[in-house]
Amino acid sequence: MKIFTTKHELQQYLQQCRQNGETIGLVPTMGALHAGHLSLLAMAQQQCSTTVCSIFVNPTQFTNPDDLQNYPRPIESDIEKLTAAGCDVLFNPTVNEMYAANEQWHIDLGDLEHLLEGEFRPGHYQGVTQVVFKLFDIVKPDKAFFGQKDYQQVLVITKMVQILNMPVELVMVPISREAEGLAMSSRNIHLSADDRVHALVLSKALTWVAKHFNGQNLQQVRQEAIDMINAEDGVKLEYFEVADADTLHPAAETTPRLIALTAAQVGKTRLIDNMIIR
Ligand code: PAJ
Repeated sequence: MKIFTTKHELQQYLQQCRQNGETIGLVPTMGALHAGHLSLLAMAQQQCSTTVCSIFVNPTQFTNPDDLQNYPRPIESDIEKLTAAGCDVLFNPTVNEMYAANEQWHIDLGDLEHLLEGEFRPGHYQGVTQVVFKLFDIVKPDKAFFGQKDYQQVLVITKMVQILNMPVELVMVPISREAEGLAMSSRNIHLSADDRVHALVLSKALTWVAKHFNGQNLQQVRQEAIDMINAEDGVKLEYFEVADADTLHPAAETTPRLIALTAAQVGKTRLIDNMIIR
């Protein structure tokens, strides 16, 4: 695997790949890689001839300085995982390589900015779009791969690509889960053994809604899911919504595409999860 820490060297290398007729697939990450990240890479390898993974803990998308400080950064084991998985290129820049001092960024994301995650993490999606714009601009990928785990992020990036007319195809990859149902996340390493058990209620509640929604009982199944989560020790619910999968607006029974999304504090760790209902 080739490893680049500067934009210039990466761009020179990728220009050569393009001249050789390669197609480029980008998997943007913040590292602490797990099987979910590697499933994005596997999809990229199926669809593109050269795969680029980026590892960059992007400061502008963190709303809480402690969260940024404590974000895991196991770069050596990440390099081993990517090498074993056959990734072609790792881009691992420093903050100074990615950002000039006092850079400003704003894009009008409409409602997506303030709904759900937007409400609990103000400014988060400005930081996400800022860094993903830069990564797309540097790598110029044919395709970029994102996880359904961060469903609202997929909608936000889709919107940015539309607004800015960026020539990249976005691919959404399903959620990878642990055997008992917990959605894989780099933050799961902060969960205690007890937290891990309590956290299972999130995927259980989502599965409950997917199973018991009969086309007419949306508010009832949503409330049952909320009650289930509130009854679990050590879990503090932030939201549980059933939304229009295209807009994330609150859904009605007649909404054609439905998704249930939830966020909760489990012990000291904030977790998110979602499930497509229809
Ligand atoms: P990060 O949390 O490292 O996630 C990188 C990618 O892996 C995202 O597209 C995310 O949705 C996906 N992913 C994480 N857990 C997953 C799981 N269990 N199953 C499937 N995919 C999963 O998301 C980010 O980083 C950042 O916001 C980033 C896009 C890199 C911008 O900084």
